[in-house]
Amino acid sequence: MEKVKIAILGFGNVGTGVWKILQENKKEIMKRSNYDIEVAKILVNDINKKRDFELPAGILTDNIDDIINDDNIKIVVELIGGRDQAKEYMIRAMKAKKHIVTANKLVIANWSEELFRIAEDENVLFYYEASVAGGIPIIREINESLTANRIEGIIGIINGTTNYILSKMTIEGISFEEALKEAQDKGFAEADPTSDVDAFDAVYKLAIMSSLAFGTKVDHDCIYREGIRNISDVDIEYAKQFGYTIKLLAIAKEENNKLELRVHPTLIPSTHPMANVNDAFNAILIKGNAVGELMLYGQGAGDLPTGSAVVGDIISILRNNVKPSELKELNDKVDFKEVKKSEDNESEFYIRLNVKDRAGVLGDTAAIFGSNNVSITSLTQDVVHKEYVLLAFITHKSAEKNIRNSIKQIKELANVNEVESIIRIESFK
Ligand code: HSE
Repeated sequence: MEKVKIAILGFGNVGTGVWKILQENKKEIMKRSNYDIEVAKILVNDINKKRDFELPAGILTDNIDDIINDDNIKIVVELIGGRDQAKEYMIRAMKAKKHIVTANKLVIANWSEELFRIAEDENVLFYYEASVAGGIPIIREINESLTANRIEGIIGIINGTTNYILSKMTIEGISFEEALKEAQDKGFAEADPTSDVDAFDAVYKLAIMSSLAFGTKVDHDCIYREGIRNISDVDIEYAKQFGYTIKLLAIAKEENNKLELRVHPTLIPSTHPMANVNDAFNAILIKGNAVGELMLYGQGAGDLPTGSAVVGDIISILRNNVKPSELKELNDKVDFKEVKKSEDNESEFYIRLNVKDRAGVLGDTAAIFGSNNVSITSLTQDVVHKEYVLLAFITHKSAEKNIRNSIKQIKELANVNEVESIIRIESFK
């Protein structure tokens, strides 16, 4: 069987996963790809670092030129993460006629057009399945299996770290800080958790998925973003009382050629399958106008799940499969689709106020909602504390601008101490 040489850039969690899969499943991979894959080089920062397992002598290098200048290396697997260096290495590799497999959502979400143009010019393939939701084959699903459909919407739990934190808060009743610490101890969350907790990671993934699903360029800066730092155990309890579970959802919908794109904590009915996606698992629900609703569930991170997507891409390149749809091609074929401003979106809302327990406060608040055309579905008031009482409302579907106007006026009421939470609801209707 013909040998093919590949190189891996980065040997962290995913890099070692790819290595393990290539060893463990060698027989199957040879059969499916028709090649005997040899990892010729692995780019690392420190070639002398102690590693958990033996690697063939001479395989590690700290010099990218050893890979770029080796004409026998046909595929470069970029797993170093980050942005500028990863982008530069991929471009150099393509110019040296090497195919690319990457898991780098940051680079794809920012520079896909440039990278795909270079891939086209250099006549190399560029695969990025692992950039969204780790082991879940969502890119192929959109690009290949669902091409008969007009995609109407995508709703996903696409960040494992925040899902782990919210699941722990919901099931074990622990605080955000405790759950974050646990996620960090288990290696899900980074020491600086900003990218996950403030939802940047999910925004990049949504930008990639929605560009492909709706055939347009999606600038990640146009996606409304709200993280989970402000979710409190109080809201999780209230949500439960109302029959909801709080999840960080990435939502993309198309209506009348306009896109609604947002990532934020969301109350979802506790009876919906998404509400039972717990721990670090991901799930993506796609609605196509022919297939109806389709839901994918799996591990969105981790060495072997993400490695599964990466090795799948390597095999696709070796089989010289259909070129994956590229954002640039899609952009050429469709009209630019406008992204709605977030104030023009509509949702049901959960709103929690901290008020003084005085006559008229409920009436004044309800009157403000009414005058802004916000209709209340249900309301609950907790036990009276010494200084305050909590009021929680669920609204009917309302325009965000009407909610914002209401909140502005409610904040001015003398008997309202604070508007403590405003969380959107997704009913999947
Ligand atoms: N940090 C991400 C997550 C995995 O928690 O889902 C990589 O995108």
